[in-house]
Amino acid sequence: MAEFKPNTKGLFIKTYGCQMNVYDSERMRDVLKPLGYSPVDSPEAADLVVLNTCHIREKATEKVFSELGRLRDLKRETGGNLRIAVAGCVAQAEGEEIMRREPAVDMVVGPQSYHRLPEMIARLSRKTGDVLETDFAAEEKFDALPKTREVDGVSAFLSAQEGCDKFCTFCVVPYTRGAEFSRGVDAIVEEARELARQGVKEIVLIGQNVNAWHGQAPAHDARAVEWRLGDLIRHIARIGGVERIRYTTSHPRDMADDLIDAHRDVEQLAPFLHLPVQSGSDRILKAMNRQHTAADYLRIVERVRAARPDIAFASDFIVGFPGESDADFEATLQLVRDVGFAQAFSFKYSPRPGTPAAGMQLQVDERIKDERLACLQSLLNEQAQAINDASIGRRMKVLFSRAARRDGQALGYSPYMQSVHVDNGAHMTGRMAEIEVIGATMTSLRGRLVTAAAEATA
Ligand code: 5AD
Ligand code: SF4
Repeated sequence: MAEFKPNTKGLFIKTYGCQMNVYDSERMRDVLKPLGYSPVDSPEAADLVVLNTCHIREKATEKVFSELGRLRDLKRETGGNLRIAVAGCVAQAEGEEIMRREPAVDMVVGPQSYHRLPEMIARLSRKTGDVLETDFAAEEKFDALPKTREVDGVSAFLSAQEGCDKFCTFCVVPYTRGAEFSRGVDAIVEEARELARQGVKEIVLIGQNVNAWHGQAPAHDARAVEWRLGDLIRHIARIGGVERIRYTTSHPRDMADDLIDAHRDVEQLAPFLHLPVQSGSDRILKAMNRQHTAADYLRIVERVRAARPDIAFASDFIVGFPGESDADFEATLQLVRDVGFAQAFSFKYSPRPGTPAAGMQLQVDERIKDERLACLQSLLNEQAQAINDASIGRRMKVLFSRAARRDGQALGYSPYMQSVHVDNGAHMTGRMAEIEVIGATMTSLRGRLVTAAAEATA
């Protein structure tokens, strides 16, 4: 009988879409490591390529099929030895169709099933059993994932919550990621400690509706039986080495007082809030099933600003939702003027199969969507530029995450999530330091290290 020899195999994972996918790709690497897979820089050097896909808009899905075409050719060149797996939300939504349309694909695995990749690879080698896994069992997945994570940066994502029950009428997430699920306090805190031990200084709690996170309070907390995200953040802030905490992404309906209070009280909690609003028109918000009005959103912004006056807001917008009139679009522009966003992601509405909005009357003409998107983006760009310009002369703590391609430059993020470059700072990589802002563009700041000795300890 042949002796079992673990040999190294190349693994290339291409990640599309949101932070959840970035996290999942990292965890897939952890899952595949014991099988001898280690990351390589290109599909050409790989034995296994995983496309971790996004289904949120049509364009994102199309990209997957064109990438699969390229991989099919590469597989042919390797004499069929390259294995191809499709993971993520397109796998979940269109798994069977992918297998049918692209025979070069060996495995299809949904976002709640990737802990089963080792079994699937074994079945593939034996040519037995199913190579399509799209069950929904977030709990089982988290229990099955390796407890150790290997990270090499100063900032790491930590999945606290998954899935969504909000059913916005335009969105595929409730169908691809399943119902809302909160990981338990102990599992999250254990993972946060492990990250801190490995030198991670910034923890980004992630989830499709991360501010809907809730969990049973640990026994030592006599005050509460149930924790909300604010409690979890306070707890993680006490782990030694955690210098900055962020969370993303949030829903206005779940912006509870405890979280707003945490923005006032927790020094490590970054003054940055990504709170998608999608539209400023009540009529459209209702048709989107967002379960809040524009005024509700503005009230939340006011409350958060009262708790943390310097907080920076970011949002997502959709233009051209079915039935959106000029007046509805104007209401969105007005909301943007009222809030003043530091960052934003804006999209043309893209009808998604199986969602209620795809079947609605009065779909908006593509040309009008283009015009509205350009108009909205120019207002958002003006706001981003104004906020960055107003930073000039200010001092802030930057977490330097990497050295730039240009010699000696260091790149990092301000507490407000502005990207910051400093010259002669490559030695700062992996550290938090105080800078003075000396220049600004729409998308980034230029800074000067105040003193190398000013490295933050707080
Ligand atoms: N069309 C356009 N944008 C969408 N988003 C979600 N679904 C769609 C869609 N069908 C956007 C929303 C969401 C972000 C992640 O993607 O703005 O907040
Ligand atoms: Fe999609 Fe709405 Fe859920 Fe966000 S809250 S994931 S937009 S359904």
